Amino acid sequence: MLAELRERHDRECPHCTHATAHQRTVFGEGDPCARLMFVGEAPGETEDTLGRPFVGKAGRKLDEMIQAIGLRREDCYIANVLKSRPPENRAPLPLEVERCSPYLVEQLLIIRPRVIMTLGGPATKMLMNTDVGIMKLRGSWSQWVAPPGSPIVSIPLMPTFHPAYLIRNYTLETRAQVWSDLKAVMHRLAETA
Ligand code: URA
Repeated sequence: MLAELRERHDRECPHCTHATAHQRTVFGEGDPCARLMFVGEAPGETEDTLGRPFVGKAGRKLDEMIQAIGLRREDCYIANVLKSRPPENRAPLPLEVERCSPYLVEQLLIIRPRVIMTLGGPATKMLMNTDVGIMKLRGSWSQWVAPPGSPIVSIPLMPTFHPAYLIRNYTLETRAQVWSDLKAVMHRLAETA
Protein backbone atom coordinates (compact mmCIF):
# COMPACT_ATOMS: atom_id res chain seq x y z
CA MET A 1 0.00 0.00 0.00
CA LEU A 2 2.87 2.35 0.76
CA ALA A 3 4.49 1.52 -2.58
CA GLU A 4 1.23 2.32 -4.36
CA LEU A 5 0.91 5.59 -2.44
CA ARG A 6 4.50 6.47 -3.27
CA GLU A 7 3.90 5.95 -6.99
CA ARG A 8 0.70 7.96 -6.87
CA HIS A 9 2.41 10.74 -4.93
CA ASP A 10 5.25 10.99 -7.39
CA ARG A 11 2.80 11.01 -10.28
CA GLU A 12 0.18 13.35 -8.87
CA CYS A 13 1.31 15.47 -5.90
CA PRO A 14 0.35 19.02 -6.88
CA HIS A 15 3.35 20.37 -5.00
CA CYS A 16 6.11 17.88 -5.78
CA THR A 17 5.28 17.54 -9.47
CA HIS A 18 5.65 21.31 -9.84
CA ALA A 19 8.42 22.17 -7.38
CA THR A 20 11.57 22.61 -9.41
CA ALA A 21 14.31 23.08 -6.83
CA HIS A 22 14.67 19.41 -5.93
CA GLN A 23 16.46 16.47 -7.55
CA ARG A 24 14.19 13.73 -6.23
CA THR A 25 11.28 13.22 -3.91
CA VAL A 26 11.81 11.80 -0.44
CA PHE A 27 8.79 9.69 0.37
CA GLY A 28 9.81 8.35 3.78
CA GLU A 29 11.12 4.99 4.95
CA GLY A 30 11.04 2.46 7.72
CA ASP A 31 8.94 -0.35 9.09
CA PRO A 32 5.45 -0.17 7.52
CA CYS A 33 4.14 -1.61 10.82
CA ALA A 34 6.17 0.81 12.98
CA ARG A 35 4.78 1.62 16.41
CA LEU A 36 6.60 4.95 16.38
CA MET A 37 6.57 7.40 13.47
CA PHE A 38 8.72 10.54 13.28
CA VAL A 39 7.55 13.43 11.15
CA GLY A 40 10.01 16.16 10.15
CA GLU A 41 9.75 19.25 8.00
CA ALA A 42 11.18 18.68 4.53
CA PRO A 43 14.22 17.05 2.92
CA GLY A 44 17.53 18.93 3.05
CA GLU A 45 20.43 18.73 0.63
CA THR A 46 21.70 15.26 1.56
CA GLU A 47 18.17 13.83 1.63
CA ASP A 48 17.51 15.36 -1.80
CA THR A 49 20.64 13.72 -3.18
CA LEU A 50 19.98 10.29 -1.66
CA GLY A 51 16.17 10.23 -1.78
CA ARG A 52 15.99 9.19 1.89
CA PRO A 53 14.72 11.14 4.93
CA PHE A 54 17.02 12.32 7.72
CA VAL A 55 20.32 11.05 6.38
CA GLY A 56 22.38 14.25 6.84
CA LYS A 57 23.61 15.89 10.03
CA ALA A 58 20.13 16.20 11.54
CA GLY A 59 19.56 12.57 10.62
CA ARG A 60 22.58 11.46 12.62
CA LYS A 61 21.17 13.31 15.62
CA LEU A 62 17.78 11.66 15.04
CA ASP A 63 19.53 8.27 14.94
CA GLU A 64 21.04 9.06 18.36
CA MET A 65 17.61 10.03 19.68
CA ILE A 66 16.15 6.74 18.44
CA GLN A 67 18.98 4.73 19.97
CA ALA A 68 18.54 6.54 23.28
CA ILE A 69 15.11 4.95 23.66
CA GLY A 70 16.37 1.49 22.80
CA LEU A 71 15.08 1.35 19.23
CA ARG A 72 16.74 1.05 15.85
CA ARG A 73 16.04 3.37 12.97
CA GLU A 74 14.54 0.49 10.99
CA ASP A 75 12.02 -0.18 13.79
CA CYS A 76 10.46 3.26 13.20
CA TYR A 77 8.97 5.04 10.22
CA ILE A 78 10.40 8.42 9.23
CA ALA A 79 8.69 10.93 6.95
CA ASN A 80 8.33 14.65 6.38
CA VAL A 81 5.51 17.13 5.84
CA LEU A 82 6.94 18.02 2.41
CA LYS A 83 8.34 15.31 0.18
CA SER A 84 10.58 17.57 -1.87
CA ARG A 85 13.35 19.93 -0.79
CA PRO A 86 12.39 23.61 -0.64
CA PRO A 87 14.78 25.99 -2.41
CA GLU A 88 17.72 26.86 -0.12
CA ASN A 89 16.09 24.82 2.65
CA ARG A 90 13.60 27.57 3.43
CA ALA A 91 10.64 26.75 5.64
CA PRO A 92 7.67 25.15 3.86
CA LEU A 93 5.06 27.64 2.64
CA PRO A 94 1.41 27.17 3.72
CA LEU A 95 0.34 26.38 0.14
CA GLU A 96 3.10 23.78 -0.23
CA VAL A 97 1.97 22.12 3.00
CA GLU A 98 -1.65 22.20 1.88
CA ARG A 99 -0.76 20.49 -1.38
CA CYS A 100 1.70 17.84 -0.22
CA SER A 101 0.51 16.95 3.29
CA PRO A 102 -2.54 14.89 2.22
CA TYR A 103 0.00 12.21 1.22
CA LEU A 104 1.48 12.28 4.71
CA VAL A 105 -2.03 11.83 6.10
CA GLU A 106 -2.48 8.79 3.87
CA GLN A 107 0.88 7.45 5.05
CA LEU A 108 -0.22 7.85 8.66
CA LEU A 109 -3.47 6.02 7.95
CA ILE A 110 -1.62 3.11 6.34
CA ILE A 111 1.06 2.80 9.04
CA ARG A 112 -1.19 3.70 11.97
CA PRO A 113 1.65 4.02 14.49
CA ARG A 114 0.89 3.88 18.21
CA VAL A 115 2.72 7.18 18.70
CA ILE A 116 3.70 10.07 16.43
CA MET A 117 6.67 12.24 17.36
CA THR A 118 6.75 15.53 15.48
CA LEU A 119 10.15 17.11 14.98
CA GLY A 120 9.99 20.91 15.10
CA GLY A 121 7.43 23.59 14.43
CA PRO A 122 6.16 22.92 10.87
CA ALA A 123 5.33 19.23 11.48
CA THR A 124 3.76 20.02 14.84
CA LYS A 125 1.67 22.86 13.44
CA MET A 126 0.47 20.78 10.52
CA LEU A 127 -0.45 17.65 12.45
CA MET A 128 -1.94 19.49 15.42
CA ASN A 129 -3.67 22.01 13.19
CA THR A 130 -2.45 24.90 15.32
CA ASP A 131 -0.42 28.08 15.05
CA VAL A 132 1.04 27.73 18.53
CA GLY A 133 4.84 27.54 18.48
CA ILE A 134 6.95 24.48 19.29
CA MET A 135 8.42 26.17 22.39
CA LYS A 136 4.97 26.07 23.99
CA LEU A 137 3.87 22.69 22.65
CA ARG A 138 6.86 20.41 23.11
CA GLY A 139 6.80 18.02 26.01
CA SER A 140 3.03 17.70 26.33
CA TRP A 141 0.94 14.94 24.82
CA SER A 142 -1.48 15.90 22.12
CA GLN A 143 -3.40 14.01 19.42
CA TRP A 144 -3.29 13.81 15.68
CA VAL A 145 -6.96 13.73 14.75
CA ALA A 146 -7.63 11.59 11.68
CA PRO A 147 -9.95 12.94 8.96
CA PRO A 148 -13.64 12.11 9.46
CA GLY A 149 -14.56 8.66 8.17
CA SER A 150 -11.06 7.22 8.75
CA PRO A 151 -10.74 3.77 10.30
CA ILE A 152 -9.12 5.38 13.36
CA VAL A 153 -10.06 8.48 15.33
CA SER A 154 -6.73 9.77 16.57
CA ILE A 155 -3.13 8.90 17.41
CA PRO A 156 -1.18 10.22 20.46
CA LEU A 157 1.37 12.81 19.39
CA MET A 158 4.42 14.13 21.22
CA PRO A 159 6.00 17.27 19.79
CA THR A 160 9.71 17.80 20.31
CA PHE A 161 12.45 20.02 18.94
CA HIS A 162 13.81 19.38 15.46
CA PRO A 163 17.19 17.61 15.67
CA ALA A 164 18.75 20.47 13.66
CA TYR A 165 17.58 22.89 16.37
CA LEU A 166 19.04 20.60 19.01
CA ILE A 167 22.40 20.63 17.18
CA ARG A 168 22.36 24.44 16.97
CA ASN A 169 21.29 24.81 20.61
CA TYR A 170 23.14 21.98 22.26
CA THR A 171 22.67 23.13 25.83
CA LEU A 172 21.98 21.14 28.97
CA GLU A 173 18.46 22.53 28.92
CA THR A 174 17.50 21.58 25.35
CA ARG A 175 19.14 18.17 25.70
CA ALA A 176 17.19 17.53 28.90
CA GLN A 177 13.97 18.67 27.22
CA VAL A 178 14.39 16.35 24.23
CA TRP A 179 15.38 13.48 26.51
CA SER A 180 12.28 14.06 28.62
CA ASP A 181 10.10 14.03 25.45
CA LEU A 182 11.77 10.81 24.28
CA LYS A 183 11.26 9.17 27.67
CA ALA A 184 7.56 10.07 27.55
CA VAL A 185 7.33 8.35 24.16
CA MET A 186 9.25 5.31 25.42
CA HIS A 187 6.92 4.93 28.42
CA ARG A 188 3.83 5.33 26.27
CA LEU A 189 5.05 2.65 23.86
CA ALA A 190 5.76 0.33 26.80
CA GLU A 191 2.20 0.87 28.10
CA THR A 192 0.68 -0.01 24.74
CA ALA A 193 2.90 -3.04 24.08
N1 URA B 1 15.22 17.85 8.11
C1 URA B 1 13.95 17.42 7.97
O1 URA B 1 13.02 18.02 8.48
N2 URA B 1 13.76 16.31 7.28
C2 URA B 1 14.72 15.61 6.72
O2 URA B 1 14.45 14.59 6.09
C3 URA B 1 16.04 16.08 6.90
C4 URA B 1 16.26 17.20 7.58
